[in-house]
Amino acid sequence: VDPANRAWMQGKTYRGQLLPGDLIPGFAIGEVLESTVSGLNRGDIVEGALGWQDYAVVTSADVIVRDRALPLEHLAGVLGITGLSAYFGMLEVARIRPADTVVVSAAGGAVGSIAAQVAKISGCRVVGVAGGAEKCQWLTDELGLDAAVDYKAGNVFHDLKAVCLAGIDAYFDNTGGDILAAALALMNTHGRIACCGNVSEYDLDQARAGPRGVPGLLVVKRVRMEGFLVSDYFHLRSSAEKVLREWLATGQLKAPVHLVEGFDKTPRALIDLLAGVNRGKVMVRI
Ligand SMILES: NC(=O)c1ccc[n+]([C@@H]2O[C@H](COP(=O)([O-])OP(=O)(O)OC[C@H]3O[C@@H](n4cnc5c(N)ncnc54)[C@H](OP(=O)(O)O)[C@@H]3O)[C@@H](O)[C@H]2O)c1
Repeated sequence: VDPANRAWMQGKTYRGQLLPGDLIPGFAIGEVLESTVSGLNRGDIVEGALGWQDYAVVTSADVIVRDRALPLEHLAGVLGITGLSAYFGMLEVARIRPADTVVVSAAGGAVGSIAAQVAKISGCRVVGVAGGAEKCQWLTDELGLDAAVDYKAGNVFHDLKAVCLAGIDAYFDNTGGDILAAALALMNTHGRIACCGNVSEYDLDQARAGPRGVPGLLVVKRVRMEGFLVSDYFHLRSSAEKVLREWLATGQLKAPVHLVEGFDKTPRALIDLLAGVNRGKVMVRI
């Protein structure tokens, strides 16, 4: 379950607007039950945009065969769109360097929790922004982040400034909105902002005005702010997956999962996701 499922209902994005009655598109792991093409066999585990449904009829171009031996939770999370977005966003877009101060918003979520750990493993000082004291505590205690800011508690700009005394070198933006505005004002010269998503806007009736400081602060600080889609980097997927699998195997990388049982719970899972009940990737097992 992805925040984008909600964003697609708002209007045209990189896909057409979802309308009442449409199948909700979505990334899923499936098992081949019947095949009429070579290269896909009954029992194969595949990933693809299978949508919110028990059964999908697809062409072979719509799916890729995955390794049956890998846990389904990894295929649907850290080794799928989620982990790859975090990995490419940090390393290819934010282009983090050791000793950078790196801030990640929605840091307790699916992409954010992996992105923050990628930066930690790369030798950065990492600050997470998340909703609620308990989630923030979990980020420092369990995921090993250097600090965490609860954006629901106080003034996110002041709280972020207090833990980023030397400014921010790279900001991984999952939220847009007030957190982006706060980070933007604290960016160091030649800082990088990787725009992964803007979940703070997905559940609103109307889009809000963008943050102040664009383009003024970008010019003065020569900050590079760049949006990306994970698919932009799919040509690097196999090497990225290899690294992520090594980090998982050595225990350097944790892949938290919020597992919901039962297809009928899927709509509720999306509502809960947007409310922030999750730590890590929300996924539904059918
Ligand atoms: N560019 C790409 O290719 C790509 C690919 C995958 C995902 N994404 C984007 O990455 C972002 C994260 O996706 P995800 O799947 O990892 O979801 P997620 O972070 O697991 O879930 C969304 C989280 O957003 C937080 N949130 C909700 N409303 C918020 C608000 N108003 N302000 C700040 N935080 C809020 C909630 O956590 P709190 O408890 O902290 O509020 C919630 O857990 C989304 O923007 C998504 O669209 C982009």
